[in-house]
Amino acid sequence: MTTASRADAPVGDALAVAQAPSIKSVYVFEAPVRVWHWINALAITVLALTGYFIGKPLPTMPGEASDHFLMGYIRFAHFTAGYILAIGLLGRIYWAIVGNYHARELFWLPVTNLAYWREVFRMLLWYLFIAARPNQYVGHNPMGRFMMFTMYLLVVIFMICTGFALYGEGAQAGSWANRLFGWVIPLFGSSQDVHSWHRLGMWVMVSFVMLHIYAAIRDDIMSRQSMVSTMISGRRTFKD
Ligand code: HEM
Ligand code: HEM
Repeated sequence: MTTASRADAPVGDALAVAQAPSIKSVYVFEAPVRVWHWINALAITVLALTGYFIGKPLPTMPGEASDHFLMGYIRFAHFTAGYILAIGLLGRIYWAIVGNYHARELFWLPVTNLAYWREVFRMLLWYLFIAARPNQYVGHNPMGRFMMFTMYLLVVIFMICTGFALYGEGAQAGSWANRLFGWVIPLFGSSQDVHSWHRLGMWVMVSFVMLHIYAAIRDDIMSRQSMVSTMISGRRTFKD
């Protein structure tokens, strides 16, 4: 039912709708990118929570030790989420090859393009509350893209390499993880060093996630374009 045909609608409504600025939207993120985004977000949440407790285990449980398998379940959840994260990234790389232009933005930066860096700076001023308005972008904004490449992509690759190196240690020599990532432990010095770097990587990732969610929600409200709904529906709506 349109506004004009509603019996209880004020007379001015139809006119207001007719005169309202049109809302334009562009299809940006294809379904595989969106599905991957939310599965990946969930996997990283599980990895950070369980990883935190792997390094700083809970106080001793009461009763018989054989009655409990708490750390076992925590580690199981960590490794399951680790596999989901790694296989998800492989799927995401496949989609960067076959998907649209925006599916590739995460994987490279136009470092030699001066206009790109100018836009990064512009967005930095926006996030520092110095610029009054951000520019409009169909894909990732240049600053967001920079953060996603440096603080997400590079860090997640680091976490997968160090994570599977530690996993390969448990799975022992001859396992696929040990054969593929066994070189990581000698590179860092010892297993304990890899643990420490893997844990530090978690804090970098947690910092990214906090900034990322803050920026997505703030931009949704303050910039003139949709954000969170874009990662759900795939469409970027320009509001003016
Ligand atoms: C963003 C992703 C990840 C985060 C935030 C994360 C976080 C952590 C943290 C904080 C620890 C404890 C380190 C310590 O203090 O000793 C840990 C341990 C570990 N992680 Fe991850 N991790 C991630 C990805 C992975 C992946 C992809 C794997 C591969 C299966 C993995 C396997 C392991 C293993 C094997 C351990 C050691 C378990 C143990 O010693 O009992 N992690 N992780
Ligand atoms: C662990 C949590 C999260 C991680 C690791 C993460 C990571 C990412 C990554 C890597 C991208 C780039 C997507 C691509 O190009 O394929 C992205 C985009 C995006 N994420 Fe997240 N995300 C997380 C949680 C969230 C949450 C909770 C929200 C909503 C409040 C959100 C909103 C968005 C939006 C709106 C975009 C698109 C940004 C744009 O349009 O330029 N993310 N995220």
